[in-house]
Amino acid sequence: MTIRTVSELVEQGFEGIENEISICTDCQLHKTVTNRVISKGSRSPKIVFVGEAPGKNEDETGIPFCGRAGKNLDAMVAYMGLSEDDYSVINTIKCRPPNNRNPLKSEINACKPFLQAQIKLLNPKVIILLGNTAEKAFCNGEKLDWGAPRIVDGKYTLLKIYHPAALIYQRSRIEEQNTLIDNNRHLWE
Ligand code: URA
Repeated sequence: MTIRTVSELVEQGFEGIENEISICTDCQLHKTVTNRVISKGSRSPKIVFVGEAPGKNEDETGIPFCGRAGKNLDAMVAYMGLSEDDYSVINTIKCRPPNNRNPLKSEINACKPFLQAQIKLLNPKVIILLGNTAEKAFCNGEKLDWGAPRIVDGKYTLLKIYHPAALIYQRSRIEEQNTLIDNNRHLWE
């Protein structure tokens, strides 16, 4: 296991982090990955969306949220009234778990320095946690309420909302999600 500190990664900048992710063998997922999925969007965003893990489409292309869940994320972004410069999208872990199983705690922990370094460099006002896996990486076992913003260290606000994939099979959730968004517009408008 390579020891990478967050500050060393931050010093290397976006390209350095990308390079470190591309050669990482710190968990077993490197044995089955096709493409590591790093980020998309603005490099100076107001908001960073943090997903769970790459799925099949993302593994094939290396682009986060480029499949069906991505269409729901795009619809959410439009509902929030964000422009391209306003946001970026990253995942909690960068390699696809086989058969899209949930990421293991050990995999989340192995990838955490990359996640933390990405957040430091992107330096958003708001971090939107898309579901429970992202919450695990940010909240050390503590649970946030859905749609209840939490200011961390006076630096940024965490907000947990539903993962876009959870809206695919439960259409009724879309209205619930829109209410969570409406209640928090002041965070980015
Ligand atoms: N689900 C995620 O959490 N991330 C992706 O990139 C795609 C689907």
